[in-house]
Amino acid sequence: MIELNYRNIKKEVIGEENGLNIEEEFQTYKDTIHRIIADLNSNKDKPGQNLKWMNLGYNEETIWYVKEFAAMVENRFDNILILGLGGSALGGKAVCEALLPPYWNFLTKEQRNNYPRIFFLDNIDPDQMNSILNILDLKKTLVNVITKSGSTAEVMAQYMILKDLMEKELGDDYRKNVIATTDKNVGILKQLSDQEGYKTFYIPDDVAGRFSVFSAVGLLPFALVGINIEEITQGIKDMDLALKNTDINYNIAAQNALIHFLMNIKKGKRISVMMPYSNRLRYVADWYCQLWAESLGKERDKNNNIVNTGQTPVKAIGVTDQHSQIQLYNEGPNDKIINFLRVAEFDTTLEIPNIFEYTGISYLGGKTMNQLFNAEADSTMASLIDYKRPNVTITIPKITPYYIGQLLYMLEVQTAITGALYNIDTFNQPGVEQSKNYTYALMGRIGYEDSANELHEKLFNSASLV
Ligand code: PA5
Repeated sequence: MIELNYRNIKKEVIGEENGLNIEEEFQTYKDTIHRIIADLNSNKDKPGQNLKWMNLGYNEETIWYVKEFAAMVENRFDNILILGLGGSALGGKAVCEALLPPYWNFLTKEQRNNYPRIFFLDNIDPDQMNSILNILDLKKTLVNVITKSGSTAEVMAQYMILKDLMEKELGDDYRKNVIATTDKNVGILKQLSDQEGYKTFYIPDDVAGRFSVFSAVGLLPFALVGINIEEITQGIKDMDLALKNTDINYNIAAQNALIHFLMNIKKGKRISVMMPYSNRLRYVADWYCQLWAESLGKERDKNNNIVNTGQTPVKAIGVTDQHSQIQLYNEGPNDKIINFLRVAEFDTTLEIPNIFEYTGISYLGGKTMNQLFNAEADSTMASLIDYKRPNVTITIPKITPYYIGQLLYMLEVQTAITGALYNIDTFNQPGVEQSKNYTYALMGRIGYEDSANELHEKLFNSASLV
């Protein structure tokens, strides 16, 4: 199983001012955590609770449909193009980057075992989009449009460009190259996919975008590139079982949730850094940043008090960011908790040849890159301890579908528990909706005229800025 080591948040290790008396805190919060975990599990099937992401690992029907479709289109496409934003893209990207061999899109078809390349278009930069359209042969490209609301302006604009191009190039047959993943009942994409006859997968009710990675949003792309989705769901199920334990002493999601919460409210650690020592897990850090930010950054609590909660999540990559951010983490404001994300066993052992006699580098010869990587992580951790900076380590035994399922699910549960500790709605995102609505107004969507006038005043009339 995945492990959490929280030694370096203890007051015995980093001092009274920044450290916690963790045994005492576990005792104080024992009943609260018990209640939170029990509530999550007893409410997960209830409509309107937004907890149905807790069931995704058990959704045999989706797994079956996804696998059936992937088998049907096997060998038909050279490229998968995902159109989606935020929760509709980040999880897919994180898992594909972790589980496919690095530089997958640069490998030959044989090296990819005939599976297609995969591209995530999660931005609308016109230059980027134009370039990707120049690279892809649309006849050999399967486009998966993913939007839960079915109306996000960015995704719908991407889709409109693709549809137009594909229809011109492929005629009516273009429909075989499009799949929609969206809500079953609402949204324009649902209407369009019915009208155009696209193969459609549904995102279950009560699953927010950032908790949707194990629905068809993620499972379909994974299956299309040959990732074993049953191993992923087995990992989720085993982790779910472990995290049903309501005793904080045996529940790593609850432990890390409480540690982050207390570090924030008692010790002023306003920033949560996710620092994988694995390049393959770099997008897991991006996914975590969205999960943590959108779920916990809230203006009001459940009693409608203004609370402005949430730690700012930051992504850092070991060792790359040792040479960029660690100076700040060690000597700058002591306002962070750092999550090291480490891999116990890499797929590869890479030896450093013994080819130089110079004392300054000869010590490297005969060692492995793995040893160096681990030594770098250990020394970064040691320096953080010297500077009394709290840090925890999450260790994943190996990068496999099973452990990636465990890891992401564990972080989802951790986020849900943290939200409950803050007493906020973890699963809404009014701040995101606000700017989505402003975009509709600025782009002239019908029904948003009043908002457009107000916005014009706000943005361009200098008097209103005073
Ligand atoms: O987590 C969320 O809910 C958001 O990040 C959404 O995923 C994002 O805004 C995209 O929304 P949609 O899937 O409706 O296009």
